[in-house]
Amino acid sequence: MLESEQRAAMIVDLVERYKGGADSDQIKREAKAVFAFVRPETVALAEERLARHNLDPADLHQLHRLHLDNLRHELLQLQAAIEPWHPVRTMIEEHEQILATLERLEALNARVQAAAALDPAARQELADIAANLLAAEYHHRREEEVVFPELTKRGIGATVEAMEAEHEELRERKHALKALAARGADGGFEAFRRELGELAAYIVYNLGDHIYKENHIMFPAAVRLVREEGLWPRLKERCDEIGYCNFRKLH
Ligand SMILES: [Fe+2]
Ligand SMILES: [Fe+2]
Repeated sequence: MLESEQRAAMIVDLVERYKGGADSDQIKREAKAVFAFVRPETVALAEERLARHNLDPADLHQLHRLHLDNLRHELLQLQAAIEPWHPVRTMIEEHEQILATLERLEALNARVQAAAALDPAARQELADIAANLLAAEYHHRREEEVVFPELTKRGIGATVEAMEAEHEELRERKHALKALAARGADGGFEAFRRELGELAAYIVYNLGDHIYKENHIMFPAAVRLVREEGLWPRLKERCDEIGYCNFRKLH
């Protein structure tokens, strides 16, 4: 069975139990796994199945909203539990900036896909978006060199390796996006549009998913597991040595 079909079936099952009054903590826990950066086409598939079973798709949206509220609440709790200077808190704040850049990339891509030619403003915005995504490399280096090694020492090295591999895959595409902005439509608008479509779809989905896993799995684990007296201040010094992201303001 396709991944999205499997996920849609799980969503339908969860919605049925949610409407049936199942234990809400259990539902929240399962929703966290089932909705983890779910693709829109999977939600559409789940809606279709619900309608076929004479169930109301509105229940799905209610559950999805509940899940998003729950995630926001958990992330706020995590931020409130740590000092403003804490490396993880800085990383969560940087994630907000990266997610805002992804929204801009998605909107820009939609505009370009509907356009007949490349206008200079769109090309400039693409250059700014690529610069911001590459500015985040300082963020990823602090994760790789400071926070992740502490998690590896505490037994979750396999997950760390997967996250580092994602950094690598994304880094390649960010450089490709920068090169595309520099080239513009030199090779023809059609080729530009196609390459932008492929890169934007990959980066928006995979970087969003990556941030989701860090905010909701890796960072809570780091705060929970790394507790030795005086260690976080020392890690913060190493973060300062690496440096921070010089994000451009997007207009
Ligand atoms: Fe990361
Ligand atoms: Fe991150």
